[in-house]
Amino acid sequence: PGDFALRGKGAAKVVILGAGVAGLTAAYELGKAGYDCTLLEARSKAGGRNLTLRGGDRLTELKGPAQDVKFGEGLYFNAGPGRIAPWMVTLDYCRELGIPIETFINNNAAAYVHTNGRTVRARTARADMYGSVAELLAKATDIGALDKVITKADQERLLDFLRRFGDLGPKLDYVDSDRRGFVKFPALDTGTPIPPPGTLHQILAAGTGRSITNDFGYDQASPMFQPVGGMDAIVAKLTEAVGQDRIRTGTKVTKITSMADGVEVVWNGGSLKADYCIAALPPHVLARIPHNLGAQITSALATPVPVAAGKIGLEYSRRWWELEDRIYGGVTETDLDITHIWYPSHGYHSERGLVVGYYNSEREAELYGALTPEDRRSRALTQGKKIHGEKYRQNVLSSVSIAWERQEHIQGGWVRWPDFDSSFTLLQRPAGRVYFAGDWLTHLIAWQAGAMESARAAVTQLHQRVLQSP
Ligand code: PHE
Repeated sequence: PGDFALRGKGAAKVVILGAGVAGLTAAYELGKAGYDCTLLEARSKAGGRNLTLRGGDRLTELKGPAQDVKFGEGLYFNAGPGRIAPWMVTLDYCRELGIPIETFINNNAAAYVHTNGRTVRARTARADMYGSVAELLAKATDIGALDKVITKADQERLLDFLRRFGDLGPKLDYVDSDRRGFVKFPALDTGTPIPPPGTLHQILAAGTGRSITNDFGYDQASPMFQPVGGMDAIVAKLTEAVGQDRIRTGTKVTKITSMADGVEVVWNGGSLKADYCIAALPPHVLARIPHNLGAQITSALATPVPVAAGKIGLEYSRRWWELEDRIYGGVTETDLDITHIWYPSHGYHSERGLVVGYYNSEREAELYGALTPEDRRSRALTQGKKIHGEKYRQNVLSSVSIAWERQEHIQGGWVRWPDFDSSFTLLQRPAGRVYFAGDWLTHLIAWQAGAMESARAAVTQLHQRVLQSP
C-alpha cells in the first residue's frame, strides 16, 4: 500500500545500461508492469556503488594492485552508501523487498571531535559551544543590547530559552555544566567531571562548529538506518526480484543508436535491439560512449564533474572503542584528512569489529586515492592514533580501502553540477528512445534515494509513452 507501481501493463522490450541502484530499480518497476528488461553491466557484478565487502572478496582498482579482503566471519564493510534517512524512498524499497533494517547511529555524544590537534567528546564540544553562545547572547540581552530589536517580554522568553540551551547559571554564566561529561561518571559519589572549559577565546578558537552541526541537516539527522548485514542486501533483493538471468555482467557498451522504431546497443562481443533504452550509468562514463543523440546531449553529459570519495575499513581483533572509549556506534568528526571515523552500529560486544578509518571526498579523497592501499592504511592509522592513541594501530587485523574515482566503470564517488542548469533538465527527458537515470539527475546526489527516484521518473515517462503509442 502506498508503494510505487506503474498503472496498467506494458509489453515493450527495454535495455537498461548499468545495474547499479538506478538500473536495478528501473528494471524492478518495469518488470512489475510486465516489461521485458535486459540489463547490461560492465562490472563483474551488479550493485554499482552499493558495494559491501566481506572476507574472500577481491577489490581491484584502476592502475593499482588488487586487495584481497581478509575480514573474519560475519564482518562487512559498506564501501559505498552506509546510511539511510527515514524519509528516503530507499526505506520503502527495504520494506517492499523484505529487507530488515536497524538503526544507524549517526550522532553519538560519546564520540569525539578532533580539531586543532585537540580531542574532546562530542558532548563536551557541544556543551561548550552552546554554553558560550548562550552566555554571550544572554549578557547582551541583559545589558539592553536588544532593546531596540525585541520587546522586554520577548527578552524574558529569550533568556529563559538561553538558560536551558546553554545550561547557564543564575548570573547568566556558563560554568561547570555536567553536560560536559565526566572522567569518572557519578555513582556512589558525584564522580569526576571533565576539567573546566577554557576561556571563551579558547572555546571559539577550537573551531568545533562544523563538527557539532553535522547532524543538523535534514539528510543527516537521527535516526538513520542501515540494512541488517550489509547495504548490498538492497542489491541482492532487487537482483532476485528482477531475475539474475536478466543481468549480463562484463558487457561494456560501445555504441548507442536511437532509431525511429527502437534502440540498438552494441557492446564488446554483441548487440541487441530493444524498444527503449534507460541509460543508468554515471554521466562521465556515458559521455564517452559513441551515440547518435546529438551534440547537446554530449555536452550535457559532460557537464557534471566527478568527485573523488574514499573509505577504509579497518578490522580490529577487539572492540576497544566500546570496551575502553564507551563509544557504541556513531561518528568522530575531525579536521584531519581522514575527516570522519565511523564506529559500527551493530554487533556490539561481539569479538571483532570493523571501523571506517576514513571517509572523505574531494581533495582529501584524491590524496588518499593516489596512495597504495598500504600507504592509505598507514596514513589512516597515523591520523586515527592522534585521537585514539596507540591501540588504534595495535589491534588491526586487516584492512581494505576504496578510491571510488579509481573504480573501473564508475570513476567517481558522485558528481557535482556546476549549477543545476538546462543540461540537468535536458537529461531528465528522453533523447529519442533513450532515457537517463541516476542519482546525478536529482537533488539527492550521493544517495541511493536519488537513484531510485530518478529511476521511477524515467520508467513513469517511458510507460506513459508506451501506453499512448498505437
Ligand atoms: N550520502 C553520503 C553520506 O551520507 C554523501 C553525502 C553527505 C551526501 C552529505 C549529501 C550530504 O555520507
